[in-house]
Amino acid sequence: MSLRSLEEFPRSVQDFVTRNERQSLDPQYLEREAGKDAHWIYEESGLPWLKLAIEVPCAEMFQEALAWTEHMIEQDYPTLWGKDKKQEDAAQQGWKTICLHAIDGDMHKFDRANMYGYDHEDSAPYQWTEVAHKSPVTKAFLESFPYAKLYRARFTMLEPGGFAAPHIGRKENADYSHKISFALNHPEGFAFLYERHGCIPWRAGRGFLLNVDENYHCVLNRSNVRRIHLITMGRPDWEKIDPLFKQSYYDVDPRENLFIHQS
Ligand SMILES: [Fe+2]
Repeated sequence: MSLRSLEEFPRSVQDFVTRNERQSLDPQYLEREAGKDAHWIYEESGLPWLKLAIEVPCAEMFQEALAWTEHMIEQDYPTLWGKDKKQEDAAQQGWKTICLHAIDGDMHKFDRANMYGYDHEDSAPYQWTEVAHKSPVTKAFLESFPYAKLYRARFTMLEPGGFAAPHIGRKENADYSHKISFALNHPEGFAFLYERHGCIPWRAGRGFLLNVDENYHCVLNRSNVRRIHLITMGRPDWEKIDPLFKQSYYDVDPRENLFIHQS
């Protein structure tokens, strides 16, 4: 299968891929410490990512997402890339989204609560959107997920040739800003790379807890297929999420899920 040339992408993306695609998760994150709970795993482990011991109904959710691709909008984050960055290099292209759960139930309010005038994610009026009401499988999955409060949930698409240049998340105004993201499809040629830790070992249906606020990362799609995921942010219900996080931490061997670069 032929992939799009890396040279089609901006210099910053090319450099990031070249520097990191042969990296692998730092060995310190392959070890497991005994007796830890969900709160520690989320807050203190420092794990760049954790593969969750869960499979999602990705085929059905992918079909539900496809119905909304025409309504998705470009993710233009005014505060994510600095002004200089925006001027010197394209920040993103073909990186689109639509919300199932959003402030005021507005399917296009995809950014953090503070961008819409709220002090904190917990005080923002998050509601289901029309997208959720018409995506019953995805909505049921989100309702079943052990969050005490779901903040944003959205379908996000990276078009063929699309990318998000290297960036790091924002921790302000959110105590629980880790993302939990599920691949609804996964064409070969899509990559989600971390600085120093290489590629996340995605497959369709896999979900990961992502610490993107403390790790520079970059995504690109060198395939000819649109790649869609379901991405969520919320305050965990520590008691309910404990079995899932513990199972993911102790029972999923991270060595078996390392991404091995094949040139
Ligand atoms: Fe990001």
